[in-house]
Amino acid sequence: MESTLAAMRILTGLQPSGKLHIGNYFGAMEPAVRLQDQGEAFYFIADYHSMTSSQDPVALRENVRELAIDFLACGLDPARAVFFRQSAVPEVNELAWLLSTLCPMSLLAKCHSYKDKVAQGIAASHALFAYPVLMAADILLYDSNKVPVGKDQKQHLEVTRDLAVKFNEAYGEGTVVLPEPIIREETAIVMGLDGRKMSKSYGNTLPIFGEEKPLKKLVMKITTDSTPVEDPKPVEGSTILALYQLFAEAGAYEAMVADHARGGVGYGDFKKRLAEAYWDYFAPMRARREEILADPGFVDEVLAAGALRAREEAGKVLSRVRRAVGLTA
Ligand code: ADP
Ligand code: TRP
Repeated sequence: MESTLAAMRILTGLQPSGKLHIGNYFGAMEPAVRLQDQGEAFYFIADYHSMTSSQDPVALRENVRELAIDFLACGLDPARAVFFRQSAVPEVNELAWLLSTLCPMSLLAKCHSYKDKVAQGIAASHALFAYPVLMAADILLYDSNKVPVGKDQKQHLEVTRDLAVKFNEAYGEGTVVLPEPIIREETAIVMGLDGRKMSKSYGNTLPIFGEEKPLKKLVMKITTDSTPVEDPKPVEGSTILALYQLFAEAGAYEAMVADHARGGVGYGDFKKRLAEAYWDYFAPMRARREEILADPGFVDEVLAAGALRAREEAGKVLSRVRRAVGLTA
């Protein structure tokens, strides 16, 4: 078991698109951190991809740096995982081009993510349309075996597998490695302050990092019903309880459930308990973040070392692919 796991390559990318929230933490970062022990992890900041929805050089630089700091603070261990910027390995563009030569327009035209983004008002550019091809190149460039992603990326993984199969049919089995998705299930969805899915596009988020007062104040904004203090409160569908469960010890959580069922405790009190638990939960990550910030060269060094390692791997795969397609002898 150990040896097969050690040989497994796990790859995922996160877009640098703004302040990270606890939905990102529990939905993407924490699972990625756990997977570092299961194989050889390649984690990257998908900066090329983020340019499909926003073209702002200042924001891009800032968001990349913030994501790198926050991911490291949340437990990404550069001694175990290869951590790099997507654009530090420009080879990915060549593989994307080669894949695109075999990619039917119809395969991309049916992608929900493209249609959703255009419906949201994002310009229907060629890059937005070709987004899944670049994502396939991200994955295939590193001979990835497992790709952990949220449900929203499921279709992009299907496109990747389709392209890998077509590529191997055209150029020979083993030209690229067929990856397996690890899809995180809906049950892992973190609720936002208004009871909908937490998302930066809904403005209902709890950030991972920030100052104590404003963060705790956000918790007080959670939407609740108007049940009087003395009455029992609904447990089912409670945003406070759903969030509290992420942070609290089992005993404390059970106590809050019991207080809901019994009545006599108001929502303000529950929110205070939640705010404390939320603040305490991220204390070790905040401490790590302070250490990282105190060492100004650290993040750049990590990303440079990661890029070197990633490029080395990409170089091997790309020369195999270039030979297979007839670009080199
Ligand atoms: P947002 O919805 O805020 O724009 P992103 O789409 O950038 O977030 O999310 C990046 C990753 O974080 C997603 O692939 C998903 O796995 C995870 N994620 C985002 N929001 C949540 C949530 N509310 N619950 C669980 N996971 C989430
Ligand atoms: N599209 C992914 C997202 O928005 C990010 C991403 C880019 C990615 N390339 C990838 C994820 C390759 C996994 C593998 O969440």
